[in-house]
Amino acid sequence: MCGIVGYIGHREAYPLIINGLKRLEYRGYDSAGIALYDGSNIQLAKTKGKVVDLEEKADKEITKKGNLGIGHTRWATHGVPNDVNSHPHYSNSGELVIIHNGIIENYASIKQELISRGYVFHSDTDTEVLVNLIEEIKKKQDVKLGKAVQIALNEVVGAYAIAVFDQNKPNEIVVAKLGSPLAIGLGNDEFFIASDASPFIEYTNNAIYLEDEQMAVIRLGREIRIRKIKNDTRIKPFVHELKLNIEQIEKGGYDHFMLKEIYEQPSVIKDTYRGRLLADQGIIKIGGLEEYIPKFVNADRIIIVACGTSWHAGLVAEYTFEDWARIPVEVEYASEFRYRNPVITEKDVVIAISQSGETADTLAAIKLAKEKGAFVYGICNVVGSTISRETHSGTYTHAGPEIGVASTKAFTTQITVLTMIALKLAHVKGTISKSDYMMHLRELDAIPVYVEKALERNGEIKEIASVFKDSPNFLYLGRGYNFPVALEGALKLKEISYIHAEGYPAAEMKHGPIALIDEQMPVVVVAINSNHYEKVVSNIQEIKARKGKIIAVVTQGDTVVRELADFVMEVPKTPETLTPLVTTIPLQLLSYHIAVMLDKNVDQPRNLAKSVTVE
Ligand code: G6P
Repeated sequence: MCGIVGYIGHREAYPLIINGLKRLEYRGYDSAGIALYDGSNIQLAKTKGKVVDLEEKADKEITKKGNLGIGHTRWATHGVPNDVNSHPHYSNSGELVIIHNGIIENYASIKQELISRGYVFHSDTDTEVLVNLIEEIKKKQDVKLGKAVQIALNEVVGAYAIAVFDQNKPNEIVVAKLGSPLAIGLGNDEFFIASDASPFIEYTNNAIYLEDEQMAVIRLGREIRIRKIKNDTRIKPFVHELKLNIEQIEKGGYDHFMLKEIYEQPSVIKDTYRGRLLADQGIIKIGGLEEYIPKFVNADRIIIVACGTSWHAGLVAEYTFEDWARIPVEVEYASEFRYRNPVITEKDVVIAISQSGETADTLAAIKLAKEKGAFVYGICNVVGSTISRETHSGTYTHAGPEIGVASTKAFTTQITVLTMIALKLAHVKGTISKSDYMMHLRELDAIPVYVEKALERNGEIKEIASVFKDSPNFLYLGRGYNFPVALEGALKLKEISYIHAEGYPAAEMKHGPIALIDEQMPVVVVAINSNHYEKVVSNIQEIKARKGKIIAVVTQGDTVVRELADFVMEVPKTPETLTPLVTTIPLQLLSYHIAVMLDKNVDQPRNLAKSVTVE
């Protein structure tokens, strides 16, 4: 959580940092701040609110001049979002200034120690403690900023991506990373710092991603110096060539990133299987998987760990892996898994799913699984992310940057990857018939067309949204493959419209949620043609008998549910196993339209962040 941006070079730093912060607002947006060195002093402005609020404040308070600066957009951990707790933070002397993404767990004891030495604190943050610890070390031990940062970081426990500079040494910025991401863009005698590469993509295609426990002293006019924080070993930097382009991170004519990303699904699903799925030839070939197929095939079980929407994709995979490949699967919230003492053996394969590749709980679950000897496979969207590097092997989803905080295209592309893996394993194991395998390959190849068709119903879905936008509660029901879809539909509505919604397996309704149903309660039921169709129809009858309002996702041409439901949202017919890829679409659109009609901030819902790097 939190986005950080920095710049040192020949350009005006202010516009570059502000634009960069806007691109990183998906990481947190409860407060924002900037510090610039104007040639003689530090110019600092910060405020509760978003980057636009910061711009207003900066207009009034600072000169906005300078070729060196750092900026921050915050998702609060320590201390409520207010002006004082916003970053950057000064040290007591006013000479050092810092931005920080992460959390310093032992800040309280360090703070006490610093207070006893006369330090004064203005904010409730752990970050202000860190900058003063650096200052104390720098002064007491008479060392340079880089060394002081290194010594300080060896004393702290927690996670961080930091950037700090000293107004007496305005030709360098010191950065360090543990747990939170930090990329350094390399220009022509200029350097860019950011939580991901999006803030500097129009200036350079070359970037270094710091690894955990590494720090760098970035000084103008010389090569970047990277060291290990613990033992001071010098590291030869690896320069990545970035594939990102500016169009991918702009709205491209859509009102919101979320809508753009919903509409991108046909093309990004294709990008996900491009070169990996050769339907006509009956081939699935996934680079990171091929050599590890024996590990999967011989595994006692597969454990899937993930959070949020990625966890829902894992639940869908539980059905496909067990159904086709006959491998037992357990799907775990990463946060629960890591804090139990789970039984994991070398015969287990752990799949970690994460859009950002930075989620702290998922990362910790991976580390635990590795310690216990399991083979760990990652499914990530963000190329070069920490999880993609920490896993033994893995597959990228290639969905492109997902900026809307509510995940959409990440979900369907994760399911696409997992479906390909399940089909491949089943084929290798011989647990799926040749004809079933071939049929699924062809149908998977046709999914982008089906998703297009589902999107064509947008107008009708918008009308349904207008009818139900003021309902305070929603229930979402689905069975089998569409139970996770019901969970995901409910999550989308909660996240962006702040309407309470619950997802439930349809058959479980009678064990509790049915008590909630009255004429005020909209119930969204995924009622597509499937093995459970009749059973779902019975569930719909039960809702109707209690006067609940029924919004059903149905297969094109359905007549039975259409008769019973108040509203229907049609999707094209696909094999039941692939239905989550299409039934999800109307639910994404429904929540999107409701949130827009309620005038909510669709792309940046309150209290959430896209990349949760705290535990
Ligand atoms: C946050 C986001 C969710 C996301 C979850 C897991 O809560 O707001 O949209 O599903 O983290 O993120 P990951 O990047 O690991 O998939």
